[in-house]
Amino acid sequence: MKEKLENIKITAKEEIKNAIDLQKLDEVRVKYLGKKGALTEVLRGMGALSPEERPIIGGLVNTVKEELENAIKEKEEELEVIELNKKLESEKIDITLPSVKVKRGSKHPINRIIEELEDLFVSMGYDVVDGPELETDEYCFERLNLPKGHPARDMQDTFYVTTEYLLRTQTSAVQARVMMDNIEKTPIRVICPGKTYRRDDDATHSHQFGQIEGLVIDEGISLAHLKGTLEVFVKHMLGEDSKLRFRPSYFPFTEPSYEVDVSCFKCGGKGCNLCKQTGWIEILGSGMVHPNVLKMNGYDPKKYSGFAFGTGLDRLAMFKYGITDIRLLYANDVRFLNQFDRKD
Ligand code: DAH
Repeated sequence: MKEKLENIKITAKEEIKNAIDLQKLDEVRVKYLGKKGALTEVLRGMGALSPEERPIIGGLVNTVKEELENAIKEKEEELEVIELNKKLESEKIDITLPSVKVKRGSKHPINRIIEELEDLFVSMGYDVVDGPELETDEYCFERLNLPKGHPARDMQDTFYVTTEYLLRTQTSAVQARVMMDNIEKTPIRVICPGKTYRRDDDATHSHQFGQIEGLVIDEGISLAHLKGTLEVFVKHMLGEDSKLRFRPSYFPFTEPSYEVDVSCFKCGGKGCNLCKQTGWIEILGSGMVHPNVLKMNGYDPKKYSGFAFGTGLDRLAMFKYGITDIRLLYANDVRFLNQFDRKD
């Protein structure tokens, strides 16, 4: 019996020593110390021993068991350190590797124009307001002095959704909203940039385009205020040397109405392909708010007067950045957009 125990001890210790990982070590533990293990078997066989032998062998079994347990524990600690090192090695981060390049977007040229205009007009005390793109006939036309059947409606090819709802053809619709929303009928000074829609589609027209509207209402507002404001606006956007020309025109919501031309910034007014040899480029529509519009939207024309103007953001972007096809502004081609990736 003693000899058998001695043999078990030697082979078990050898196997513990040779265990290459924690799993193998556990298999060795089960093989010798488990319920059906070699040492347990020896204990079971003790019934056959004489009463004198039993305590001696029992004591011996316990000593071997303790020795093996200690050997396993020691080996376990050793293997744990090895496995941890292996794991750390495999998860090591090489901080010298170059990083994955972060792809930065760029501001769309139309948004650049909007931000520039907002900064300018806010610095002059204007508010920036929004309106719905799905508009009603009432706000897009009727409240702007364009009753149903008015011939000037033909100037704008409208996308009607129902007979009452439409995609707004002009940001002028926001004029009526701002006036109607102002319950106390106090003075107004706003700009409204936004998307507009018409049934057009060629190199200089897109079915969706951007406009910005300006509206000022107060006591004593005159044409001089309109001219001064537009001069600041155009010079800021297209250069200090720009000259303005006011041409009488017709819009149903203003009286008098003007189309405003700017001296050609490409040829300086001499005549070129951009200005079609005229030296001038049409840039916006404007005028003094029609008394009917004031009245219809709750403002007393005897007390108040105002001016309004509206222009295409796409046209401004095309002039400012030399873009020849308006559809490029809406195609989301990154090769086009990346050209506007400046640091400012
Ligand atoms: N809404 C006009 C258009 O889309 C532009 C315009 C003209 C706006 C005169 C105005 C204005 O506010 O006074 O063609």
